[in-house]
Amino acid sequence: MRVGTSTCILIWLIGISQLSAGEPPMAALGKKIFLDTSLSNPPGQGCVSCHDPKFAFADPRRVSPGAVKGLEGRRNAPSLMYSGLIPPQRLEDTYDENGEIEYIVEGGLFLDGRAHDVMEQVRQPFFDKNEMNIANPAELAAKLRKVDYLAELKSRVGESDFRDDEKLNDKAFEALVAFIREPMFRPFNAPIDEYWAGNKEALSLSERRGLDVFQTTGGCATCHLTGTGSWLEPLLTDFGYDNLGAPAIDKIDPGLGGVTGKESELGQFKVPTLRNVALTSPYLHNGSIKTLKEVMEFYNKRDLEPERWGVTNYPETVNHDDMGNLDLTEQDVADLVALMDAFTDRNIIQMKEGDFFPKVSPGVPATQERKAFFKKKGRHDLSAPRRPGR
Ligand code: HEC
Ligand code: HEC
Repeated sequence: MRVGTSTCILIWLIGISQLSAGEPPMAALGKKIFLDTSLSNPPGQGCVSCHDPKFAFADPRRVSPGAVKGLEGRRNAPSLMYSGLIPPQRLEDTYDENGEIEYIVEGGLFLDGRAHDVMEQVRQPFFDKNEMNIANPAELAAKLRKVDYLAELKSRVGESDFRDDEKLNDKAFEALVAFIREPMFRPFNAPIDEYWAGNKEALSLSERRGLDVFQTTGGCATCHLTGTGSWLEPLLTDFGYDNLGAPAIDKIDPGLGGVTGKESELGQFKVPTLRNVALTSPYLHNGSIKTLKEVMEFYNKRDLEPERWGVTNYPETVNHDDMGNLDLTEQDVADLVALMDAFTDRNIIQMKEGDFFPKVSPGVPATQERKAFFKKKGRHDLSAPRRPGR
């Protein structure tokens, strides 16, 4: 049988619509929940309210206001780019200076690592009084039963689980996890990726010098890894925790130490990825530093200019070995600042007026193709000791 032109067009149209439909069903549902501002109490706030796609899904405000007027958190909302790739928390054994075995925390979500993995993280904004302020799981389930994408939600949950609060909520959390694992959040298409793929022209001269400082005299790559670890491509973090001595702003924030109860970990925060960092001002967990130039100057001369940076909350745990007096030249600092631009993904820069989300770049592997790297809840690191009290 001869296939008519109209049939061809029809097939082509179906192809296009599937392409533009994009995500697999669970991720598509997760996207709706991410955008939904009806769930908070009072209504008006959703994930998207603090994680703005234009700013690499971070919040340009120092701290984000909550759904309840007058309430706000104490931390700067980080980028969600690559956050679906943050490994579940584990304890890594190392040796301290006396040769004693010592466990250090690696991975986990939130800046203080209080969520073990992504699944545990996505549920918390709903119930945080400084965020979406939902009173309890029953209230969330009741709200989910009234969303305007009800048919889609029901078809993913199934009729009987739809009536079960816990199962319904869990499905919503799973959908959010599926969404933030989507290719949109992990394109790896910054100039640095092109450079690492072999195109030396992808970086300017200044950026190349900056990369050299980053990996040598600056010591940056010790924590912001340029090699690969838990993922196939460099994530520019080792997911460890450290105290940089961030300038104190208002509320005292114990960071990791507040979660583990260990004094040596007070004031420590997770090493963030530097991917898209040029878009996520202000910086550090408390948003205390506004520009990347100042962050670089802070690393370089923190210990020489105490009056410039002021007091910090936990001076006794500040890292003085790797930063604070780096002896970098002004040119080195300028080159490091330039380098930060090379970490910005092209699909975010290329967003146009009217685009709500960054476009998915062609060639980024589907989540299914990367499933070996996305470890399942409950099945990871069974051999590693869990944090005390968990
Ligand atoms: C009121 C603002 C606000 C809302 C609403 C909000 N977040 Fe966040 N988000 C933050 C802040 C602030 C942090 C850092 C908090 C911390 O570390 O304690 C954060 C952290 C995260 C992280 C951890 C990233 C990392 O590097 O560890 C993820 C993932 C995340 N949010 C996803 C979501 C999702 C999904 C939703 C919706 C269910 C959401 N957020 C709603 C402000 C918000
Ligand atoms: C010892 C580990 C370590 C080293 C070395 C290190 N960093 Fe960091 N970096 C961190 C931690 C931890 C944070 C988050 C601190 C906080 O939130 O208080 C951070 C934050 C940053 C930020 C702010 C990111 C944001 O989103 O707020 C930038 C930019 C940055 N580092 C760049 C660098 C550069 C450039 C160097 C080298 C000169 C460097 N870092 C060296 C651990 C390190």
